[in-house]
Amino acid sequence: MVKAISIGLLGLGTVGSGVVKIIENHQDKLMHQIGCPILIKKVLVKDIEKERRVSIDENLLTLNPSEILEDPEIDAVIEVMGGIELTREYLLKALANNKHIVTANKDLMALHGPELLAAASRNNCDLFYEASVAGGIPILRGLVDGLSSDRITKLMGIVNGTTNFILTKMSKNGSAYEEVLREAQELGFAEADPSSDVSGLDAARKMAILATLGFSMNIDLADVKVRGITEISEEDLKYSKKLGYTMKLIGLASRDGDKVEVSVQPALLPEGHPLAGVNNEYNAVYVYGEAVGETMFYGPGAGSLPTATAIVSDLVAVLKNLRLGVNGKSAVSPQFSKLLKKPAEIFAKYFIRIHVKDEVGVLANITLLFAEHGVGFDKILQLPLKDKDYSEIVLVTHTASLRDYECILQKLESYEMVKGIESTYRVEGENIL
Ligand code: NAP
Ligand code: HSE
Repeated sequence: MVKAISIGLLGLGTVGSGVVKIIENHQDKLMHQIGCPILIKKVLVKDIEKERRVSIDENLLTLNPSEILEDPEIDAVIEVMGGIELTREYLLKALANNKHIVTANKDLMALHGPELLAAASRNNCDLFYEASVAGGIPILRGLVDGLSSDRITKLMGIVNGTTNFILTKMSKNGSAYEEVLREAQELGFAEADPSSDVSGLDAARKMAILATLGFSMNIDLADVKVRGITEISEEDLKYSKKLGYTMKLIGLASRDGDKVEVSVQPALLPEGHPLAGVNNEYNAVYVYGEAVGETMFYGPGAGSLPTATAIVSDLVAVLKNLRLGVNGKSAVSPQFSKLLKKPAEIFAKYFIRIHVKDEVGVLANITLLFAEHGVGFDKILQLPLKDKDYSEIVLVTHTASLRDYECILQKLESYEMVKGIESTYRVEGENIL
């Protein structure tokens, strides 16, 4: 009889339940790959009495983390409880006790990834985190293994399922923001605190992880410029459509020479762009490599079973390494020092919606301001407002530097003829490279 590999689970919520199901339902396939059964020895939860989405022997549940972190019979720990400080403490303890780690926790990896990876390497342990970015899409392996021979120059993606679900329902069905957010929570896509989804923070954490791996430099969360979806209005969605665009929360990481830019923001994409057709909780990441050209990774970005697939595949990798005796040998430290682009080095097109006095010469003055910065218009609409003294101007610029764009916005705000800048968004995906 072959000895089973014992694992401990930290967490049995949306993702943890999926992990239990996949380990049970795919036991034959898993056994064929790793040569032995996987035994779930203990599961840490917060509330023993809680009803579970998966049937599990109650004796496996514990409130005591030491029953996992300090059990010498447990070879690997799957962390699907979320959180940062306490979780970091647990994982450092598990690594110190020579346990391999698989985690779905982008909050933790974006903040403490280098520390945890160093601890893993010191203890000859694996620490894999495929599920932390884009749920069921094997994007981290795609970058680290599949495209390891190439030089990645750009990553552009939809990496948050909750916000994509919300924007899809708002723009296609006219659903109200609060109602769709609630639906995303019920479906298990949203974070425990969904403000990290809608504020763009969750996507920023994922972009920090993607850019670090893609560009082989340590990109911190603080390096990612973040804007969420909370300010997007029905008007913005209406005008996007009218001008032939789709609004998406876009994570962008680009490299020119040795300088990089990483951001998360709502952006307008041409309707025909492949990312514009990525709907609901689906995610997709465009990866541009100098040699490979364009590639796109697409799939479910959140949810129980898709995310659990990534986790159990990481576990298979750990167990294969265990058999070969090569755990803790695969992490490669970043090759390059980080150099961030300055606003004068970041170029994009912009959508701007402003309310102005409905007077002769206003449009001419605005055009002049943009022209002084060398910025022309690609599209422009002027429409009446209910208040007859004012009108609405909606325009899309030609490519401008971020420095010029910010300077123009500042000057517009100071103009007496401008009642207010209602909204502005970056336009992406027209001149992709
Ligand atoms: P969840 O449904 O809220 O489940 C969290 C689980 O962890 C629960 O079982 C909870 O116990 C347990 N737990 C939380 N804090 C604990 C503590 N201090 N001590 C002991 N147990 C604790 O969360 P989830 O959606 O599965 O997400 C888990 C992780 O996966 C998070 O890092 C999340 O960002 C990440 N992730 C989620 C998705 C997704 O689609 N949901 C996708 C990718 C990555 P009780 O059940 O007893 O309350
Ligand atoms: N809350 C996250 C999302 C879960 O909606 O994308 C997957 O990381």
